[in-house]
Amino acid sequence: MPSGDTPGGWNAADYARDARFVADLAAPLVDLLDPRPGERILDLGCGDGVLSHTLVERGADVLGVDASPDLATAARERGIHAIVADGHALADCAEISGRFDAVFSNAALHWMKRDPQVVIDGVYQRLVPGGRFVAEFGGAGNVAPIQDALRAQAKARGVDPDTLDPWYFPTDAEYRQRLENAGFVVDQLASFERPTELPGDVSQWLTTLARPFVAAFEPGAARQDYVAAVRDRLVDSLQDEHGRWIAPYVRLRFVAHRPAER
Ligand code: BEZ
Repeated sequence: MPSGDTPGGWNAADYARDARFVADLAAPLVDLLDPRPGERILDLGCGDGVLSHTLVERGADVLGVDASPDLATAARERGIHAIVADGHALADCAEISGRFDAVFSNAALHWMKRDPQVVIDGVYQRLVPGGRFVAEFGGAGNVAPIQDALRAQAKARGVDPDTLDPWYFPTDAEYRQRLENAGFVVDQLASFERPTELPGDVSQWLTTLARPFVAAFEPGAARQDYVAAVRDRLVDSLQDEHGRWIAPYVRLRFVAHRPAER
């Protein structure tokens, strides 16, 4: 890790500035979850806890789980019971006790790339029979021009993009199959395009949300050169005539449940 980077990769202040819109756009997903008072809900990839807090306000008993110590700390400062754990370790994590009525996840599953089936299997293990898994994340084609530019400019600098690319953006068919492999019944699952106006320049988005690419280059001239080159490749296609940056997000949203025991 080049010096100057936060352990775990995320910085809560940068996230609050550059990625607040991620939680702001999630109201329909919370409605789909329909949290009820007293329900035990695990928020997988809770980030800084903004959405966990919404679930608490609706009366749920929420456990936030995030792989980033910095973000989990920010969630705790918001009053959320949040722990640091990898989404691949849900089934075995000693800090998580018992089962949940629902597992909720917004904009997080695409970061759990090592073995998505292990993540889904762990969610299944953590649900009570009849419990639901409600989530949204990046589907196939998500931010494709940005990902292509990040990869191409890394390659141009002699870095293998496959060693940097942190994202898992599956097709509907692949993800449905994985849910069914785990034993879930899929109630609904579909991808949709959601062009999203960024709160600032795409450079800020790159620095905060594409950190695994950007952090491969030393802070200072090398990093600035990389970010500027990626930006240059995107300006004609993603910046509108008013100077606004519109990112081509694709969301894969689903509701599935663990069958009730007979
Ligand atoms: C997303 O929410 O789709 C996303 C966020 C950061 C990087 C890539 C995708």
